[in-house]
Amino acid sequence: MKLSNRSVICTAALFAGLASALTPRHNSASSLKHRRAPVQSRRVQSLLINVDAQPDLPTVEAATAAASAASLNLDDIQGDVLIGMKKNQELFYFFSIANATDFKPKLASDILPLITTTTQLLSVNTQPTTALNVAFSQTGLTALGVTDALGDSAYAGGQFSDLKNLGDPGSTNWVPQFTGTGIHGVFLFASDTEDNIDAAVASLEAALGDCITKVYTLQGAARPGTEAGHEHFGYLDGISNPAVDGFVTSPMPGQAVVAAGTVLLGESGDTVTRPTWAKDGSFLVFRQLAQLVPEFDKFLTDNAVVEPGVLTPQQGSDLLGARMIGRWKSGAPVDLAPLFDDPALGADPTRNNNFTFVHPDAALATNQTRCPFSAHIRKTRPRADLGTPEDAVHHIMRAGIPYGPEVSDDEAAANTTSTERGLAFVSYQANIGNGFRFLQKTWADNANFVHAGTGVDPIIGALAGAQRVVSGLDPTDSTKTLTLTTDFVVSRGGEYFFTPSLSAISGTLAV
Ligand code: HEM
Ligand SMILES: *[C@@H]1O[C@H](CO)[C@@H](O)[C@H](O)[C@H]1NC(C)=O
Ligand SMILES: *[C@@H]1O[C@H](CO)[C@@H](O)[C@H](O)[C@H]1NC(C)=O
Ligand SMILES: *[C@@H]1O[C@H](CO)[C@@H](O)[C@H](O)[C@H]1NC(C)=O
Ligand SMILES: *[C@@H]1O[C@H](CO)[C@@H](O)[C@H](O)[C@H]1NC(C)=O
Repeated sequence: MKLSNRSVICTAALFAGLASALTPRHNSASSLKHRRAPVQSRRVQSLLINVDAQPDLPTVEAATAAASAASLNLDDIQGDVLIGMKKNQELFYFFSIANATDFKPKLASDILPLITTTTQLLSVNTQPTTALNVAFSQTGLTALGVTDALGDSAYAGGQFSDLKNLGDPGSTNWVPQFTGTGIHGVFLFASDTEDNIDAAVASLEAALGDCITKVYTLQGAARPGTEAGHEHFGYLDGISNPAVDGFVTSPMPGQAVVAAGTVLLGESGDTVTRPTWAKDGSFLVFRQLAQLVPEFDKFLTDNAVVEPGVLTPQQGSDLLGARMIGRWKSGAPVDLAPLFDDPALGADPTRNNNFTFVHPDAALATNQTRCPFSAHIRKTRPRADLGTPEDAVHHIMRAGIPYGPEVSDDEAAANTTSTERGLAFVSYQANIGNGFRFLQKTWADNANFVHAGTGVDPIIGALAGAQRVVSGLDPTDSTKTLTLTTDFVVSRGGEYFFTPSLSAISGTLAV
């Protein structure tokens, strides 16, 4: 693509969050003509975290080769969709469109040039100072005058009208701004510092003026130091995301391999008829999931697995927590490390996902000595439990990030949360009914999945606030049940969005 020097300078300045980017010159006809401008490298360090235990992103060369073989255009797919849980700092900025007539040209002139593509995120020297992605709810698309249905009923209705399907106890715990359909879109800002993000927000707000209204924001951040990559209960996250055909060429052992159409609309494997322009977009499910960490820790202390002479009380409570998740805090799966954490296993991405729950000495359908049927990772990805080869449909790309402060000494001593923290859950899928909602409703919240009497997922399973009965958590007696009277994860609501391709923005949404 041919670019004038001028648009290069303007775009680079905006990425740096400089006020000078907002001079009238930036909105001149000449920069409007250019849909994209290259980002001038300002980075010496990645804006993403790099946790050894998580699979590396492909190199730009490998991804480009894979994409070209699968006819996937990584320059047209917004950067967050295929990247996974690797953000350092991320701000979710929910907005409504106050004036669509004014917003549309700005979508083309001020937002689109800042949108970070998949290719750009793959190398440090093409990453912007602050990455930007944008996604729209159904009411947002409607506000823009888009009348084509995207072919997803959950998306069309919005998350508020879907909350009964998700096990939420009504909307009493919901952030008020998520109740209803008033949120039209969300900007995702990602960088390595909050200052960078704040500058990018100020710059974009100045450019957009009154045509949008800020409705709500949520700041996420990787946890500090060696906890980076771990969610607030303490377990390493972001290990097992699917390898998407056309992006990842060397899947890790045990990693699910899915067709591009599992995540991207209109790609091979997506069986729903979509408007042409929706191709290479993806549905973004956002959920603000509060986590009651001191309460969770107290539960582990009070219900520790007891194996006299084998486990200390601390080891017994660590084991209970690991069995609820299906992995130890290090990431090591209990299926391969059934009694004690194995940090070396957890840290090794070639081994930490290499299991199916099948073992020669254990009957797959009845033996929970290694991994409970109810474990969070087994509920949300039953692997061989549903037969081999594994189904290819019910997979999601998880791209969330923790939010809220670390647990304070006072909270820990009181066994009580006083400041909200949790997971800003994000998943990408081509079909919400097969992806997020299926995992939540049909698997996690279903006490008879994967076998009668399994109980719900003790982490995310929800029964509209009712107490939850879970079996299989005690390896010495799989018939024993535990009754959870507290939801350790509390839904604060969210919304369903659509993350369009860049060409959909320029060709359809902004015109
Ligand atoms: C606060 C809420 C949540 C917490 C604390 C949490 C925590 C975790 C952890 C620690 C892992 C293991 C790391 C990994 O395999 O990458 C994991 C995996 C996973 N989670 Fe969650 N999660 C939460 C919400 C959800 C929700 C709402 C869903 C979907 C409905 C979900 C779906 C999955 C899936 C699909 C996996 C990967 C399973 C696999 O491939 O083996 N999680 N989660
Ligand atoms: C949107 O803004 C334009 C001017 O920029 C104005 O003419 C129009 O009336 C506004 N529309 C609404 C609904 O406020
Ligand atoms: C993965 O697991 C299989 C079966 O248990 C084993 O044969 C193989 O060596 C493992 N791969 C790695 C890289 O550890
Ligand atoms: C269940 O599996 C464990 C190993 O994972 C094995 O030691 C045990 O004998 C099995 N139990 C039964 C009843 O087969
Ligand atoms: C917190 O929970 C632990 C474990 O049950 C208990 O020993 C301790 O007394 C509790 N602290 C308070 C202040 O309730």
